[in-house]
Amino acid sequence: MITQQTLIIGASSDIAVAIAIQVEKIDSTGLVLVTRDFSAYSEIIDDNINKILIEDYQSASIEAVIRQLAQLDHAPITQVFICHGVLHTQQIKPEKRLEDLTAASFEQVMMINALTPILWLQKLTPLLTSSIPCKITVFSARVGSISDNRLGGWYSYRASKAALNMMLKTAAIELARRAKNIKIIAFHPGTTDTALSKPFQKNVPPGKLFSCEFVAKQLLEIVEKSELDSTLSYLDWQGKAISW
Ligand SMILES: NC(=O)c1ccc[n+]([C@@H]2O[C@H](COP(=O)([O-])OP(=O)(O)OC[C@H]3O[C@@H](n4cnc5c(N)ncnc54)[C@H](OP(=O)(O)O)[C@@H]3O)[C@@H](O)[C@H]2O)c1
Repeated sequence: MITQQTLIIGASSDIAVAIAIQVEKIDSTGLVLVTRDFSAYSEIIDDNINKILIEDYQSASIEAVIRQLAQLDHAPITQVFICHGVLHTQQIKPEKRLEDLTAASFEQVMMINALTPILWLQKLTPLLTSSIPCKITVFSARVGSISDNRLGGWYSYRASKAALNMMLKTAAIELARRAKNIKIIAFHPGTTDTALSKPFQKNVPPGKLFSCEFVAKQLLEIVEKSELDSTLSYLDWQGKAISW
């Protein structure tokens, strides 16, 4: 019998798929997936998975998904994973030097990596506020740490994750007053073998390129152990705190 649900947003992410596969094996937990593209799930046929296709991540589209979530007459959502993140696309190249920075690319990276996750948090909060604990993991990155920045480069990506962290911190302070049942984790998966890291994998030391399955397992354990302490945790794949 399903007693709780896990919501995965941006579910086409390679790490998200690995989380979904592991959660799907837990009998008591239902799964709700939100993405623009379900092709990664063509092999996974399970009547208990709720698949919500979204056209884009504009406010109106997010609100339409929230309305669908509100109508799910199933068990409460107790875990949320918000997975959005781009480092490179056809148009976006991570900057090596100041001259590489463009307003168009910066705006797009900020929109996807910082604004979209916080819009989800904003619109989900009324749905998740109750006496039932809910843990929300938002994918950040260690490169969003200002104190950890020793290499430079990747201006837009770094700035977007630093901005994301600041907004999550601010939200955690507010939710400590309004929604004590919600715990937020800003998560760094480590360098993981996904489409996002593909072009940068050759410089990764042996043993430091993680599989999505490993990262998903680590994250699910971290979430399970985390307490409702009304603070934002900024954690790596080992569950170790990252300095801001
Ligand atoms: N892989 C790594 O080494 C690594 C390291 C540190 C941090 N991270 C972070 O981990 C998270 C997951 O990354 P991944 O490696 O699994 O990446 P991935 O497989 O490339 O997944 C990309 C994710 O970004 C979303 N996305 C792509 N374009 C978007 C757009 N235009 N608007 C909104 N969302 C968009 C996708 O949502 P849809 O499902 O809708 O397509 C999907 O959730 C990201 O936040 C990333 O920054 C990854």
